[in-house]
Amino acid sequence: MERKRQPIGVFDSGVGGISVLRELVKQMPGEDYLYLGDSANAPYGTKRLEEVRQMTIQNIENLLDQGVKSIVVACNTATSAAVADLRKMYPDLPLVGIEPAIKPATEQNPGGRIVVMATPMTLRQEKFCKLMKRYEAQANIVPLPCPGLMEYVERGDLDGEDLRKYLTELFWSVDHEPIDAIVLGCTHYPFARAMICQVVGETVRIYDGGPGTAREMRRRLQEAGLLNDSEGKGKVIFQNSYTDSDARKREQELCKKLLTLE
Ligand code: DGL
Repeated sequence: MERKRQPIGVFDSGVGGISVLRELVKQMPGEDYLYLGDSANAPYGTKRLEEVRQMTIQNIENLLDQGVKSIVVACNTATSAAVADLRKMYPDLPLVGIEPAIKPATEQNPGGRIVVMATPMTLRQEKFCKLMKRYEAQANIVPLPCPGLMEYVERGDLDGEDLRKYLTELFWSVDHEPIDAIVLGCTHYPFARAMICQVVGETVRIYDGGPGTAREMRRRLQEAGLLNDSEGKGKVIFQNSYTDSDARKREQELCKKLLTLE
């Protein structure tokens, strides 16, 4: 198959990367996509760095073995753990990771109080500390680890009372002072956006790194002459690491549903 007609590989620890996939599909509808969620090993964000690094590399190799032309690491946690190694291993591969959208949040809210929601692992990493340092003179950046939040999305629970209670308690530690903006630093969290808005109030601006990541992939493919210019709609294939076929099918159905959510 001509290389530009090969699919784009998209990887996450579970269903969260669908929030990036939907931006990719919006911006490049003619492309085919192969989405892989390592749901059997999720969550990544509360694991050890070395474990996440190894699992990420293994999953990316799986996608490459299936013939993808490029990779989007649609997981902030996996990006901070493994993207530097992956770039060294595959210097010619168009490879894009995702990081918390602190840059636009700071630029659009100078001097503001910006809460960064992410997994404990993402917030512990050197990559995040450097990112925070770069912008801390321009805004008050407040990291907020959210262990347990991705699990609601993995269960497809996006508007239940338990989720509201979880978020209300989570924000107790940071909402004693007004919040100007929230950065969704985990790809699962955009699916909890409506509930987050209900809990913190509609005036707080929310930032998601998905659209920027999709734009960057488009730019990289164009630069490499790999953009699929065929007319018409491409196809999306969902894979996950569950070995039990019922669990696998349930997860695929959830992926399809999340892809159509606005
Ligand atoms: N979706 C992943 C991220 O963007 C994390 C979820 C997990 O803990 O596995 O960080």
